[in-house]
Amino acid sequence: MPTINDSTNPVTTNLCQLVYISRITSTGLSSPSTLNDISEISVERNQIDNVTGILCYGNGYFLQCVEGSEQALTNLKNRLLVDDRHKELNILDFSEIAERRFASWSLRSVTLERWMTKDPELKKLMPFKPYEWDSNEWQKFLDVLQGYYEEQTRTGNIDTPPVKYSTLGVTLSKVVGQHQAFFLIQTVLGLMIVATLLWLLL
Ligand SMILES: Cc1cc2nc3c(=O)[nH]c(=O)nc-3n(C[C@H](O)[C@H](O)[C@H](O)COP(=O)(O)O)c2cc1C
Repeated sequence: MPTINDSTNPVTTNLCQLVYISRITSTGLSSPSTLNDISEISVERNQIDNVTGILCYGNGYFLQCVEGSEQALTNLKNRLLVDDRHKELNILDFSEIAERRFASWSLRSVTLERWMTKDPELKKLMPFKPYEWDSNEWQKFLDVLQGYYEEQTRTGNIDTPPVKYSTLGVTLSKVVGQHQAFFLIQTVLGLMIVATLLWLLL
């Protein structure tokens, strides 16, 4: 996972954070590699733009927190607004911050499902429905995730997942992983076939 060493970054007076939520579109769901594609381009671009952050996906929703110069984040926001892999982008925060929360990560991607995490604080916020959260719930959510990263930075064990997955979660995340959309479409098609057979039989 590419990292950014923040100590080499110049001190900027306009360090900002952009936090938003959005919904995946049918275009986003139609490709099994959407999450992978987003992650790849983001890591590459964010490294160039000195942007760090986290991208959470679960239950059809995204929550992203990115940190960087006001200009870099404005440019990113403009690209995000025209990206047809997600919609209903709702900006929760775009403000100046004193320091980065996710300084070590050009973009850390996290998939969130209730059965995948053991953390009680995170479990309380599952199923992941960020549009239904109270106005400051996203801050609590980011605090929990930041805790994982700080622990990783302390232990130097940065390759472990940020969220402690349950055994079932680890297995399923490996099997289903980047192919969630494919599995979803297969399930829908399967259900349609069963419904048609039942309709013909009854
Ligand atoms: C949910 C989501 C999160 C994204 N996060 C980033 C990001 O952190 N950095 C980034 O450069 N692009 C991100 N992208 C991709 C951008 O929308 C855009 O496709 C990409 O920056 C390339 O833009 P360009 O083709 O105009 O150069 C994200 C897209 C989605 C759907």
